[in-house]
This record gives sequence, C-alpha cells and structure tokens, in this order.
Amino acid sequence: MKEVNNSWLSYSPTELIFGTGEFSNTHLHISKYNSKRVLIVYGSSSKLHGRVDSLKSNFNKRKIQVHLGPQINGEPNTSDVINIIEKINKHNIDLIIAIGGGSVIDAGKAASVIALNSYRIEDMFEGKQQSGPNKVNLIAIPTTAGTGAELSFGSIINSIEKKKKFGIRGHLVAPEMAIIDPSLTLTCSKKQIAISGFDIFTHAVETMISKKATPITTLFSREAISIVPYNLILAINESDRIEPRVKLSYFSMLMGYNLANSSTCLPHRLQYPLGALTNTPHAVGLASLYRAWVRITNKNSREKFDWISKTLSDILKIKDLGIEHSISIFLDKLELNIKLSDFSLNEKDCSTMAKNVSGSLENDPWWNDGQDLKTFYLDSL
Ligand SMILES: [Fe+2]
Repeated sequence: MKEVNNSWLSYSPTELIFGTGEFSNTHLHISKYNSKRVLIVYGSSSKLHGRVDSLKSNFNKRKIQVHLGPQINGEPNTSDVINIIEKINKHNIDLIIAIGGGSVIDAGKAASVIALNSYRIEDMFEGKQQSGPNKVNLIAIPTTAGTGAELSFGSIINSIEKKKKFGIRGHLVAPEMAIIDPSLTLTCSKKQIAISGFDIFTHAVETMISKKATPITTLFSREAISIVPYNLILAINESDRIEPRVKLSYFSMLMGYNLANSSTCLPHRLQYPLGALTNTPHAVGLASLYRAWVRITNKNSREKFDWISKTLSDILKIKDLGIEHSISIFLDKLELNIKLSDFSLNEKDCSTMAKNVSGSLENDPWWNDGQDLKTFYLDSL
C-alpha cells in the first residue's frame, strides 16, 4: 500500500498536559509564564459549570489580575476576535486562557496572533499576511472532544464583512500550552458527543487520505480509526463513564497534531460555505457531505478507503459492503445520517456554495484543476 510521501516534516510547538483532574491544576501549569494579567475567553457551558469562576478564584489567590470575556457563542466571527483584541490591548493582557469548544479556542488563537501587530483581521485570512512577529501566549483548555483546535495550526473565523469563513494559519497560531482534562467533557450532551466525535473521525480519515500524510500521521490515523468509533458509541450510550471520554479527548488531541501536519481533504473545504450559509455546526455539515465524498473519490485512494471500510465494518459488526455503506451505518448509529435537503437547501444553493469554496484543494488525491465541486453538494441533497 502506497501510504505516505517520501519526504515529510513534523512539528508541534504546543506543550501538552493531559489527564483527568488537570484542569484544577491550571494555576500551577501556567506559573512558568509569570503572568500578571490574564484574559479568560470562554463559552457559555464553562460559565454555567463554574469553570470560569474556579479559574478566576485560583488566579486571584496568586495575585494574577483576571479579566473576563468576551463569551463566544457559536462559531467565532470577526467581531468576536476584535472584541478580544480590544480587551487585550486595553488591559495590557500577557496571557490568554481559552476554555471551551473549538470555537472558543479558535477565537483565542486568532486574537493571540493579531493583537500585538498592526494587522486588520481580514489581512490574515488565507495567508495574505504571515502571523507575527509578536503574539500573546495562549493556553487552550478544550471542554469538548472533537476539533483538535488545541494542537492545530489553524483558526477558522466567520467574516461578517465577506459573509464567508476564512482560515488564519501558521505555526504561531498554535497555543503555547494545552491542558486536556477529559472529565471536562462529561457535561456535554449526547448530541454534542456524537457531533464532535464524528469530527475526530473525519480528521483521522482525511489526514490519512491527504497527499500530505506522513508515517507519523498515518500511524495516528489508523489508531484513531480503529479506536474512536467504538468509544464514541460507548460514550453516547453510557454517558457517565469516563473511560470512553478519555479515549475521545486523547484522539481529538492527537488528530490536532494530524491536522497541523497533514491537513484535511475536500469535506472540510466544502463544509465552510455550508456552515456559513446554514449556520449549522461544523461536523453536522461534514456528516451531510461525507457519503457523497467517499462515493465520488474512493477510486483515487482505493486501498486506504478499503482498509477504513473493513475496520469500520468490523467495529460495527456489519458485512463490509464498501466505504459508503459503512460510513452510512456509522452515521445512523450517531443519528447524523442527514442530507442537505434537511437544511432546506436546493440546487441553486449548491451552485452558490460551490463558488464559495476556499482554501487548498490539492491535498485531496481526487482533485484536479477544473473539477466540478458542485457535484458533491448536488449528490448530498
Ligand atoms: Fe473538523
């Protein structure tokens, strides 16, 4: 099986702290930064479950000044990032703590690389402007298991001005430290577990199919594809058990490394216009596009897709009838087997989304210049 490129790079600048209960040691882990003024960027669930207050109290005891907000609701937009930057500059913040799902961490990542430089946020989109040279240190504390935002080199921001999602990318975008405490994910609903867990699976599949796959990312992908589906179903069905959550948090993080080093394929490019148009969560959009993607592109990566299909079929205890069938059954189990028509989209919307696809398409072995991306949307209706 031809799996990987002959030449490859590996890099991860983020210090990792992984373990159940490590959230309560955050004040100890950040002591190396000698921070005097912290900004906590958070999501609604971290506020609701007292995590923001807990951080504040521990920092105050150590004479660290704490500033709060903004609260990030849903996928971050340009005004969220501008609000964070204003707080950083107003209070002379020297450390950002982003606690929440991928949206919160992405907002913190974008602000961390823009605040101390004289760029407009739009100047950073899709590599128009390189990150840096200065950044505010950022600590990511994920409370969901899915996006891998704690290790990846990208931040996805919705541009209010352009009504489109863009990526801000580069090594500096990665957090300086990630504190991954799987027990924080115990407050996620079954629906959230299914949605974010499917995101982990897509990262494993796409970084394996990607032309940029390396020996390390391929090894990690195979491990994730072999272990995530069973533990995801277990986490949904037995939602008070910590063991499957530990596995999901671990592979979410590991796939963050894969995203940074091998990048994703077409589904992640196709989802951005869909998310911007329908305001649906990232992995819900991916779920609606996945069957069409594996059906159309599997001939270009036949051996890898065959391995994924066999592995998934074994886990699901079904006959292996090919990748589209095994993905479809897996989506059924997650209650995510959906179509674009479920979002009330039509053929005209498919044309609009196809025109708005941005980012690099070359990672996908199927892609050639001039290929029609509209097909994926039409086949997903
Ligand atoms: Fe993703």
